[in-house]
Amino acid sequence: MHVLHVVGARPNLMKVAPVVNALKPYPKIKQTLIHTGQHYDTNMSDVFFQQLEIPAPDVNLGVGSGSHARQTAEIMTRFEPIVLERKPDLVLVYGDVNSTVATALVSSKLGIHVGHVEAGLRSFDRTMPEEINRLLTDQLADLLFTPSEDGDKNLEREGIAAGKVHRVGNVMIDSLVRLLPAAVDRKFDGLPDRYVLVTLHRPANVDDDRILKVILGYLLELNSELKVVFPVHPRTRQRIADFGIDASKLNLLEPLPYIEFLALQRRATVVVTDSGGIQEETTYLKVPCLTVRNNTERPVTVTMGTNLSCVRT
Ligand code: UD1
Repeated sequence: MHVLHVVGARPNLMKVAPVVNALKPYPKIKQTLIHTGQHYDTNMSDVFFQQLEIPAPDVNLGVGSGSHARQTAEIMTRFEPIVLERKPDLVLVYGDVNSTVATALVSSKLGIHVGHVEAGLRSFDRTMPEEINRLLTDQLADLLFTPSEDGDKNLEREGIAAGKVHRVGNVMIDSLVRLLPAAVDRKFDGLPDRYVLVTLHRPANVDDDRILKVILGYLLELNSELKVVFPVHPRTRQRIADFGIDASKLNLLEPLPYIEFLALQRRATVVVTDSGGIQEETTYLKVPCLTVRNNTERPVTVTMGTNLSCVRT
């Protein structure tokens, strides 16, 4: 059997690693890894392959950035010949990024079985590009691997046959558990005992200058009491520059490798984020998390975890 995994963006990488590893002991399963190239900076991609010990991709489609339509179309155009040539039995797609839906659609139309890892999550907010990606991918998938009970219920409500749904738990947390010991050993010079760790990259928070200014204003206020440590996503750095915002008083870092970021998370006093995965990681680590969104596709982090979803300005 030939399983072809697709990754494209940073959060896919923590999810693919445990699946590739789990399939390794089975000699009858051939595995191929395709990187769409949606994320291409070294510290958004390569360094995660090294730390998570993911085999180098067999092919990198090198699509890069673009509008949603352009990026999705480019991924589809470059992925189709790969599927035709390699003839996998199953294409496994991960999470909710543009690479996920684009490659699920191509595979499905070519009659190849699609498995979706992290199926069933819903924010019920269609202004989020990821929500559209989730809905469509789950409709296309033949096998739906859910992380939690709410995912099963969402799929049932959308009319997906129960026989296709398999609750496998949270693969992102499998990676966290594996690499936590390495994170415990990481030391940072000059890090205060108490600090707030911040990540922001959602278009709804960073693409509007008024909203971004208000959020950064709050962080500046907070910084005078609790030091802010802020590894900045390239989209957000670009917007800060575009809008001419002075954020020099905040401790702005480049995006961090996985283990270093995990090390900062586990020691943080509080995490402020708009990421999906970080809501889950802080829940596992029992670190308080304030999510700068007015909804979450991961309600279990609020009902059982340490997450508080706070309304944007
Ligand atoms: C994508 C995902 C989002 C995920 C996030 C994690 C979609 C719709 N969104 O958002 O769900 O939470 O990844 O980071 O798929 N850029 C670089 N270098 C890179 C990658 C991006 O400079 O390696 C810059 C480019 O200017 C690009 C912008 O970041 O235009 C946004 O990248 P893009 O892939 O469109 O989406 P993300 O915001 O990263």
